[in-house]
Amino acid sequence: MEHKDDAPVGFTLDGSRVCVEARAGERLSYTLRERLQARSVKVGCNAGDCGACTVLVDGQPVCACLMPAQRAAGRHIETLAGLRHTPEGEALAARFTAHQAAQCGVCTPGMMVSAVALLRRQAAPTEPEVQDALGGVLCRCTGYRKIIDAVVGVDPARREARQGDGSVGRPVPRVDAAIKVDGTEAFGDDVAPAGALVVVLVRSPHAHARFEVGDVGRFVAETSGVVAVLTAQDVPGKNAFGVIPGFVDQPVFAEAVARFRGEAVAAVIGEAEAMARIDLVGFPVVWEALPALDDVAEAVSDGAELLHPGKDRNVMIGGLVRCGDAGAALDRADVVARGQFESGFVEHAYIEPEAGYAEMQGDRVMVRACTQAPVMDQEQTAAILGLGVDKVRMVPTAVGGGFGAKLDISVQPYVALAAMKTGRPCRITFGRSESMQATTKRHPSRIDAAIGATKDGRLSGMTFAGDFNTGAYSSWGPTVAIRVPVHASGPYIMRDYEARSRGIFTHNPPAGAFRGFGVPQSAIAQEVLFDDLAAQLEIDPLEFRILNALGNGDTTVCGQVFDQGVGIKACFEALRPAWETAKATRGGDVVRRGIGVAGGWYGCGNTGLGNPSTCKSGIRADGVVVLHQGAMDIGQGANTVIAQIFAQGLGVPLAQVEIIGADTDVTPDMGKTSASRQTFVSGNAARLSGTALRGEILRRCNMGDDAVIEFGGPVLRVDGQPFDLRRLEADREGYVLRAVETYDPPTRALDADGQGAPYAQFGYAAHMVVVDVDTRLGTVKPQRFVAAHDVGQAINPLLVEGQVHGGIAQGLGMALMEEYLPGRTENLHDYLIPTIGDIPPIETLIIEEPDAHGPYGAKGLGEHVLIPTAPAILNAIRDATGVQMRRVPATPSRVRAALREAGYE
Ligand code: FES
Repeated sequence: MEHKDDAPVGFTLDGSRVCVEARAGERLSYTLRERLQARSVKVGCNAGDCGACTVLVDGQPVCACLMPAQRAAGRHIETLAGLRHTPEGEALAARFTAHQAAQCGVCTPGMMVSAVALLRRQAAPTEPEVQDALGGVLCRCTGYRKIIDAVVGVDPARREARQGDGSVGRPVPRVDAAIKVDGTEAFGDDVAPAGALVVVLVRSPHAHARFEVGDVGRFVAETSGVVAVLTAQDVPGKNAFGVIPGFVDQPVFAEAVARFRGEAVAAVIGEAEAMARIDLVGFPVVWEALPALDDVAEAVSDGAELLHPGKDRNVMIGGLVRCGDAGAALDRADVVARGQFESGFVEHAYIEPEAGYAEMQGDRVMVRACTQAPVMDQEQTAAILGLGVDKVRMVPTAVGGGFGAKLDISVQPYVALAAMKTGRPCRITFGRSESMQATTKRHPSRIDAAIGATKDGRLSGMTFAGDFNTGAYSSWGPTVAIRVPVHASGPYIMRDYEARSRGIFTHNPPAGAFRGFGVPQSAIAQEVLFDDLAAQLEIDPLEFRILNALGNGDTTVCGQVFDQGVGIKACFEALRPAWETAKATRGGDVVRRGIGVAGGWYGCGNTGLGNPSTCKSGIRADGVVVLHQGAMDIGQGANTVIAQIFAQGLGVPLAQVEIIGADTDVTPDMGKTSASRQTFVSGNAARLSGTALRGEILRRCNMGDDAVIEFGGPVLRVDGQPFDLRRLEADREGYVLRAVETYDPPTRALDADGQGAPYAQFGYAAHMVVVDVDTRLGTVKPQRFVAAHDVGQAINPLLVEGQVHGGIAQGLGMALMEEYLPGRTENLHDYLIPTIGDIPPIETLIIEEPDAHGPYGAKGLGEHVLIPTAPAILNAIRDATGVQMRRVPATPSRVRAALREAGYE
């Protein structure tokens, strides 16, 4: 049946007949989400690349973003909300929960809808059938293996996942699993009230340009549905944001000059229907393109224009760690490996683009948005609005992946300014290209390194000089510059060492935080050169690393000595059986098999700086135990892990803990979700809060430390004795008992030579990989990973595995396919991330070398999981072919070129 433009369209949605007015050409995803409130349908790209919006149309999986709503007329549309309660949906929900196949959960609806279609035609699918059926849905968190297991119906290896009290060490399901597998988890684009105005940003089409904004008053008057326009002149406070004091240099709206493609210069605010149709080509702005400094070499060259005054040669900041005499040690060395290594921008590519809304609440502004750092957002937004911090409230939504980029504010100032200007709720959602253009990236790097060793296989000196392209603004660039020299030695005994780094401004999107803060780049240089040294010395690469690995009592390059908790040797040793077995499989003709190994370490928390987390908990008179859990769960599992630690401290079953999430009005600052700090730092705060509550109960009951407390109602039982909570007076929040506790890891600032105690704990990792290299095509296909991670104490082993899988997938992407090129790879079909067919089986070996500072011995994990992956893959390519790749991604064309240079046909 033909439909006219802007006509009503009728179809069946999850079994019910609906009729809805839709614009001509309107995407079905928009119709479902915005007109029918079918919010289990997620939108990640609006281009059919990510599959998050997959629905069934007459039983077939379809990307709803690619289907005009009018074409749905008369058809049967099924979403996760409806499918969840079918037999296939029920089975998948249980299996996704048991396997922890949903991390952030934003891809989960698309995955489960596609899987339902598969299970309807094939009740017991094979792994290749699952990979084929789900191949159109991208996941950035899980590494896909748990999803495959869930759909195939593999019995969870860890049966105890389905049971247990949730105490530390139990692989219990995520506490938020249910809302992830039924699609009701509310992300940044899911929370705006009906009738909210829509904000769209006008962005620079040039990497460097002068511009002039024209008569915006006239534009507003002449554009139907547009309510207001904002520019730099409308910022009542400071037109700048940034995460590090002294480096607050990024304007909310550029003023006169734009310094990267995608920089915001204005915001247009209007009614939703009008904004859905608006064409910003008519926006009054005149651009004059200027020469751009594309890379570090140009930016530091003589006479290069300075992006920021006073930053000589565009150097943002440098970092240094020095001990012993690296030059003399290299001179003494029997063998030396040298090389220059390069990497490009890497995009976070979380499936949820930045989104949120703001509204006025009296004289306060309330912002709901996806974020990794609500309190930092609050402080920065307040400064931009010219308000006191108490006038801004941040209530984060669920986060559909972050990996570091959602540590910087993105949508928050724009919706807050718009709400203040209009007095109405205002929402914004970045488009995929907009998200990729405007948000931070992993720093491109150019590294020169030299490492020596003596005949007996011991390391003897290392020099390292790394330039990191920090783009147009600082973001987390200073952190990268400081962290890299601390970590560039790897977790090895290195007595003579000199490592320098620089962050360099260029006309590119700001580079910021991305899982590892520069350490994945430096690890490539160090670990690839290690294989060079091992080859020169004719020592097995794994044994070479074990020989030189740090142990308890050894001194790091920063002069720090850990007399406990150093687990890198145990990680390498755990790989030995798999390594020895894999050795026998090497070789081949056109397709050659190789194996590679690499190690890594990562200091958990800020570098030599204060880094506190505060945790509040309370017990109400009805006996309900409440945990204020302010550590943002971005998919990694903080909601579950922090609650498990708290429950252990208090001595209550996890299921009896009620969790209140982050809200700057009611939840104390647990700090940002970054630097692998939440399990360690916030976990300790939660432990202290739980033990303080427990101690208070025991004190009031005059019981000893080992007394057993039974919760469940207004009368507690303490070693069998009743303790009636109703006799206690409740405070303003309704708590009769409460505990607010803070933990700040003990560190010591670095001196001018980078000597100090930068971290209270490191976590350690070692990966090995088997790859097949097609020497004719240059393709590299990983066949198997074995990953050993020292996590001190696995609070939840299934969550550990999930982190490892996801990190390996991102490391594989960095090694083989991912490179963000401004203006060229600004979408998810030109920018490639690993798909479900790219990730081979992963065996996770959990090493538990307890850490004295960790909660119950636990160490951080989030960054560690990808640091060894890329160098292990590069080392495997070399093992297979003899060709050493020194630039990532090692794309087929680059590998093929290197093979040809090495004499391959
Ligand atoms: Fe798949 Fe986050 S769980 S994108």
